[in-house]
Amino acid sequence: MNNSFDLTKILRPHILTLAPYSSARDEYTGHVGIFLDANENPYGSVTGENYNRYPDPYQAEIKQKLSPIKQVSPDRIFLGNGSDEPIDLLTRATCTPGHDHVIILPPTYGMYEVSASIHDVKIDKVSLTNDYQIDTEAVLNAVTPQTKIIWICSPNNPTGNVMQYDAIQTILENFSGLVVVDEAYIDFTDEPSWIQHLDKYPNLVVLQTFSKAWGLAGIRVGMCFASPELIRILNKIKPPYNISLPAQQALLEGLNGIEKKDKMVADILEQRDVLAEKLQSLPIVVKIHPTDANFLLVQFEDAKGVMDYLIRETIIVRDRSRVHLCEGCLRITIGTKEENEVLIESLKKFQPQNVIV
Ligand SMILES: Cc1ncc(COP(=O)(O)O)c(C=O)c1O
Repeated sequence: MNNSFDLTKILRPHILTLAPYSSARDEYTGHVGIFLDANENPYGSVTGENYNRYPDPYQAEIKQKLSPIKQVSPDRIFLGNGSDEPIDLLTRATCTPGHDHVIILPPTYGMYEVSASIHDVKIDKVSLTNDYQIDTEAVLNAVTPQTKIIWICSPNNPTGNVMQYDAIQTILENFSGLVVVDEAYIDFTDEPSWIQHLDKYPNLVVLQTFSKAWGLAGIRVGMCFASPELIRILNKIKPPYNISLPAQQALLEGLNGIEKKDKMVADILEQRDVLAEKLQSLPIVVKIHPTDANFLLVQFEDAKGVMDYLIRETIIVRDRSRVHLCEGCLRITIGTKEENEVLIESLKKFQPQNVIV
């Protein structure tokens, strides 16, 4: 290990010493008969649900249930309002505005850059190679004393591929800041999660989400796995009740549905193969990039024309045609069997003259 990682040196000094907001229920753990501490409505809620009480700020029951599923202890789990929340909190906890840097590896998920920009944090970009892998040497060469985070997305959005194990390992072992591996699409690949290496690498942070395979994008819950010390810091700087009561209730129920999640993932993977094969047979398709996620990055002869045509057909895909290394590509999420069939039938009818100029 060539790094000298020390969490106290990576955190902004005032975050280390910050006293978090403390609710009355944080301070009292005994049996409570009457809650008169939080200015809630004692009569109930307008919906008739039990929404009149604030939720558990640390989501203890969910973490107990999630711990065996993810094979990680509850004190290594942070839950956020989507994984976009830990992306924001990690940036805020470590990067001093106008001073510190993060490294991103484009083409990749946009929120690492947006979050850094919001906080006036300098973004150093190190392009992926032409086959969408990490240029390890270039990444390590881009590190400065101000670099606090290296963001790695694997499987990567929008390219769909998994980053090589050795590259991530080399970066973890040679960089003294945080290495965040965003595994939003981990359920769609056979590659193992980096969660299993948390014990070995104190600078490793793994992000996952309930928005994709679990089908819970609407309740907004993301997961962050890291050292207990870093999880304590994230808990300290998050808004106190960041996961709403209905979201916590839905999640507790959702965690009983692993078989259903696995079945949906299997169906999506089956549909992914079918869709890729059908797309490949269309003359307007130039290339389908290999994927380990629930989407395909597809290069078209006329991506802009296809995009405009699909919008007129009321089918929305993601235009990545002007993104570095994705020129001419659209990102297509795997839909249901029926949705994919409608897409293919529409694409078969695409004529270049459909292009709006
Ligand atoms: C790589 C990646 N990370 C994180 C997210 C955000 O997920 P969440 O819904 O948990 O905020 C997305 C959403 O598309 C994503 O593609």
